[in-house]
Amino acid sequence: MFEFAFLSSDAVEDVSNRAAAAASNEQECVELQIPEDLRQGIDIEPDRLHVFVASLDTQVEYLNCLTLPQEDLSGQVLSAEMNHSDLIPGVYEGGLKVWECTFDLGELIAEQERYTKLLKNASVLDLGCGSGILGILAAKLGAASVCFQDYNREVLTNVTIKNYCFNCCNEKNDIQSQAKPSFYSGDWASFGRKTQELYDIILTSETIYDTRNYGKLINLLKSKLKRNGVVLLAAKTYYFGVGGGLRQFEQALEADGMLGHRVAWECDNGVRREILEIRWNAEPPATAEAAVVETVEK
Ligand SMILES: C[S@@+](CC[C@H](N)C(=O)[O-])C[C@H]1O[C@@H](n2cnc3c(N)ncnc32)[C@H](O)[C@@H]1O
Repeated sequence: MFEFAFLSSDAVEDVSNRAAAAASNEQECVELQIPEDLRQGIDIEPDRLHVFVASLDTQVEYLNCLTLPQEDLSGQVLSAEMNHSDLIPGVYEGGLKVWECTFDLGELIAEQERYTKLLKNASVLDLGCGSGILGILAAKLGAASVCFQDYNREVLTNVTIKNYCFNCCNEKNDIQSQAKPSFYSGDWASFGRKTQELYDIILTSETIYDTRNYGKLINLLKSKLKRNGVVLLAAKTYYFGVGGGLRQFEQALEADGMLGHRVAWECDNGVRREILEIRWNAEPPATAEAAVVETVEK
């Protein structure tokens, strides 16, 4: 007998998200789970690991991407790696490698009490996470939840999730972070439609090199940031040969008008790098207010 199949509201949302992603030819957002065999932790040979010492008592160990078995990478990510391409816009956005502004922002949040306090019990989004060092640090510093987002699924499955399990859920070494993790691959526009979650803190490093993505990125920040939330964005002042840079990004923020910014840290030792603190200028629009808005203890 013929029966109508009724979809739950989540399933309907998923179908329309898929349709919108396909229509705009963007990488569709997919939620990934930690595989069963990694939930109690993972062993990684010491010679495959690098260590980032963020402060005297907080460090993160992470996979050296040069040691990744090639069979773990597929298609365009593998060919980008084999051709030593740092990134191929819209295909591989560079997440296998750790970019230097990650270390600037990691040190800032681990060393400055103002930020370590903010991270306690906060909901955190590591946007364009790559190896996930910033989100892992947030988990180690007491965040209540950490969402890791990267463009490429291969980056999350082969690097981010493994790094997370090594640092934050290793039963053998008695390491169990209290943070609730989640992992999403795909384009920012599709991620924006996929979940309704709002965050106290959004950490993002080296994500503003491509001016064509500024509108998408600013819309995403506006749709994911809580009323009293803060975005910490680490980037180079200029991306030579690519076109983007912090002053252009500030201009895009100002043209949009909803988010304010200030330089929280800068360094001109070598390539000039900065960290922007971004907050709501005024009341967030109704769409962002629709979810429960909680305040972060200051
Ligand atoms: C240069 S990598 C930086 C990785 C990491 N944050 C770091 O500092 O090491 C840029 C990251 O931005 C993300 N990204 C860039 N464009 C994106 C887009 N259109 N949609 C989703 N993510 C994007 C990718 O996830 C990629 O890992």
